[in-house]
Formats: sequence, structure tokens, C-alpha cells
Amino acid sequence: MKFFVDTADTAEISDLAATGLLDGVTTNPSLIAKSGRDFLEVTAEICKLTAGPVSAEVVALDHEGMMREAEILRKIADNVCVKVPLTIDGLKTCKKLTADGTMVNVTLCFSATQALLAAKAGATFVSPFVGRHDDNGFDGMQLISDIRLIYDNYDYATQILVASIRHGVHVLESAKIGADVITAPPAVIKGLFRHVLTEKGIEGFLADWAKTGQSIG
Ligand code: G3P
Repeated sequence: MKFFVDTADTAEISDLAATGLLDGVTTNPSLIAKSGRDFLEVTAEICKLTAGPVSAEVVALDHEGMMREAEILRKIADNVCVKVPLTIDGLKTCKKLTADGTMVNVTLCFSATQALLAAKAGATFVSPFVGRHDDNGFDGMQLISDIRLIYDNYDYATQILVASIRHGVHVLESAKIGADVITAPPAVIKGLFRHVLTEKGIEGFLADWAKTGQSIG
């Protein structure tokens, strides 16, 4: 399973990229606003921090407007993945861009039938939002299972990119279901490294080591 980080904070991206475990980055207009940075400038910088796909989202709602914005975004770097909303105009744009070989992430997916449409439109990635699905009284992980089943039934190549992840259990369940990618905030990814018994274990080993009076090297 690939790990993308969901942020436009370049310091956080560099930090995670240094682990060697980061496969890409996703951003959205809210994350760009949070960064306080110029959209095109920060996207270009992020594209240099990872060799993997960097999702940059259009804000136009009509197909022509989306295409105009996508032209600008895809010129930033080869690893830009244009992000479009799951609407009729978004999927028209997806079909056109992917036919040209541009990566497209279809975002704001909240149903398995929407995901089916994204696959038929040739999406590189589909982003079902599990956290927001849960927040509204639905079962986010059931949505992922349903999409996995449908994509496997028809051998769709569209990758399931689990988004709006809130905690480690979402990551665990995504891996069990066989999602292709997860994107999570930096704090959630960093939390995956931690376990109370790992910390306790280190503490115990170091306390015993101190008793030996030795040092390595
Ligand atoms: O980037 C899309 C998605 O991950 C947003 O998550 O936390 O705003 O629901 P969230």
C-alpha cells in the first residue's frame, strides 16, 4: 500500500520524505489556504520533494475552466496529478486529461457508484473520503470495501486512494481491504510509528544498559 501525505506544509513533507516511506502528496484548496503560500509556487516546491504523484486541485466548476486550470497545473512538473471533483464536468475533464497521459485524482467521492463512474472515466486515483463519511453517520470503511469489490469485478486499474483519514485504524482497515493508497495528515502518519510498548521497551533497555557502564564505539 502506498503512503501519501495530505498537506501543503513543505517542512512536514521533507521530514516524512526523509523516512523513505513517502510515496506521494495530496493537497486541496483548504490545505493550500492553511499553508498561506502561493498555490503554484508551493506545488512546484512539493513536486521537488517527492518523485511520486502530487495532487493539485482545480477550482473551476465547468469543464472548460477545469481544462484551462489543468493546463497550468500539469506544466508545473511531470509528477503533478490534477485533482478534479466528482461531478459531470470533473469526469469529462478526467477523461480528456487521462487520454493525454496526465494523472488525474477524482476527489470528493462518497459512494461506490460514484467510484465506478470515476473508473469508467479513466481516473488514475479515486479519493473516497472515509472520515467525512463517518462524520455524517455512514460507514467509511464499508465504502472502501464496496469500491474494492467493484474494481476487482471489472479489473479497473483506477487506484483507490483512501482520503480524509482521521486515525491509524483507518490505515489498518485500508490495508486489510487492499486499498492501493492512503493519504493522511502528517500527525496520523507519524502516529503509526509509535506504540506504548515500543517506548516502554526502549526505556527499559536503556535503563539496563546504563547499569553496564558500557558505550558502543
Ligand atoms: O485531501 C482530501 C481529504 O483527505 C480531506 O480530508 O480531513 O478535510 O476530511 P479532511
